[in-house]
Amino acid sequence: MEILQTVQEMQSWSRAARQDGRRISFVPTMGFLHQGHLSLLQEGRKRGDLLALSIFVNPTQFGQGEDFEDYPRDLQHDSELAATAGVDVIFAPSAAEMYPKGYASYVQVEGLTETLCGASRPGHFRGVCTVVSKLFNIIQPHVAIFGNKDFQQLAVIRRMTADLNLPVDIVGMPIFRETDGLAMSSRNVYLTAEQRRQALVLSAGLAEARQLVAAGESASAVILADLSQRIIAQPEARIDYLKICHQYSLAEQEQVDGDSVLLMAVYFGSTRLIDNGFLVPSDD
Ligand code: PAF
Repeated sequence: MEILQTVQEMQSWSRAARQDGRRISFVPTMGFLHQGHLSLLQEGRKRGDLLALSIFVNPTQFGQGEDFEDYPRDLQHDSELAATAGVDVIFAPSAAEMYPKGYASYVQVEGLTETLCGASRPGHFRGVCTVVSKLFNIIQPHVAIFGNKDFQQLAVIRRMTADLNLPVDIVGMPIFRETDGLAMSSRNVYLTAEQRRQALVLSAGLAEARQLVAAGESASAVILADLSQRIIAQPEARIDYLKICHQYSLAEQEQVDGDSVLLMAVYFGSTRLIDNGFLVPSDD
């Protein structure tokens, strides 16, 4: 496994791979890998001849006062995990390599980015879209794998990839959960034991919302009121948003249907967690 740090080295690697007719799978991450990332790498392994992983804590997607400085980093451990997951190359550039002096170009997707996390974190998706489009240009993957946990991010990246005619297949993978239901996230390390216990209300609340729907409830307001009660009963919880939205447009829905996704962002102490899930089980 190679670890490359410059754009030039990475582009040469990709050019050579493509010249050899190899199909490149790509998993973009900010590192501090967990089982959820490993499930993306496993899927990437199946979908390509060569597997590229990027590890880059992207400064442009963090707002003022957010956790850019504190975001957990451990390249040594990540490299060990990546090697066992069958990664062929890690691209781990510095911020100066990605955004050199004079850098001035950004990618903005309209509409989809204005709600949910986009409303709470202004500029976040501009940073995500900019870095993902740069990584696509540098790594030149045939297919890129993302987690469904960042549901809005995936919708935005699909929109950007289609709108800009980027020749990359985008694959979304199911949320990977701890055995007690907590969605895996690099930010879970910030939680105290008590906050972590209280955060289980998210997966339990999703399960309860699904049960309400299965029992015939279809009014989003009723489902969200029930969920909200459960969450605010946790002393350390503070709701950022709870919404039921259409899976593609992300428009809020008053009535639940087969396209409805429950989307949640809740602070436990100062740690903001997101979780989501479809409310109606699909046939497949
Ligand atoms: O989901 C993430 O980890 C990041 O937003 C991504 C896609 C790697 C871009 O920095």
